[in-house]
Amino acid sequence: MKKYLLSALFLFSSGAFGDQGYEIYKNNCMQCHAELLTKKEAMANLNNLKAPSMNEVSNRLKENIIIADKNEDVKKRVVIAFIKDYIRDPMIGDAMCRPGAVERFGVMPAITHLKEDELQAVAEWIYERYEDIKF
Ligand code: HEC
Repeated sequence: MKKYLLSALFLFSSGAFGDQGYEIYKNNCMQCHAELLTKKEAMANLNNLKAPSMNEVSNRLKENIIIADKNEDVKKRVVIAFIKDYIRDPMIGDAMCRPGAVERFGVMPAITHLKEDELQAVAEWIYERYEDIKF
């Protein structure tokens, strides 16, 4: 019974975390970062976009952040830490998207009002949402 309860709690809390991440994305990021665009759609709408789409961001970071450790969990933690940092303190020297992106869109404005757990939730969401979705 205890075991069952624990796993039910775990399932509930991990599900809720994803939802929380999506809510934070919707309220703080979506006005600039579209949730999902193909390369073709992105190129066709370039003049209306304020930032790269989130699937592009997620893929770029996973491509560009290379660590010696082959462990996916370690990589995931490094990518998540990078995203959390970048939200609070975006720096041109850190930008990993296409070189043209900063030129076109400018550097992202810092977002400083999110709490630690909110940063964690939205960064995890960005990592997990696009696990099998390429740009
Ligand atoms: C006012 C528009 C705007 C908002 C709001 C915004 N961003 Fe961005 N973001 C940008 C632009 C423009 C870029 C591309 C230039 C750059 O990398 O700074 C970008 C790039 C990024 C990158 C890629 C950094 C890299 O290394 O290339 C991440 C990660 C990111 N945003 C996360 C977020 C998250 C998470 C939120 C919401 C909490 C958010 N952004 C809200 C405009 C925005």
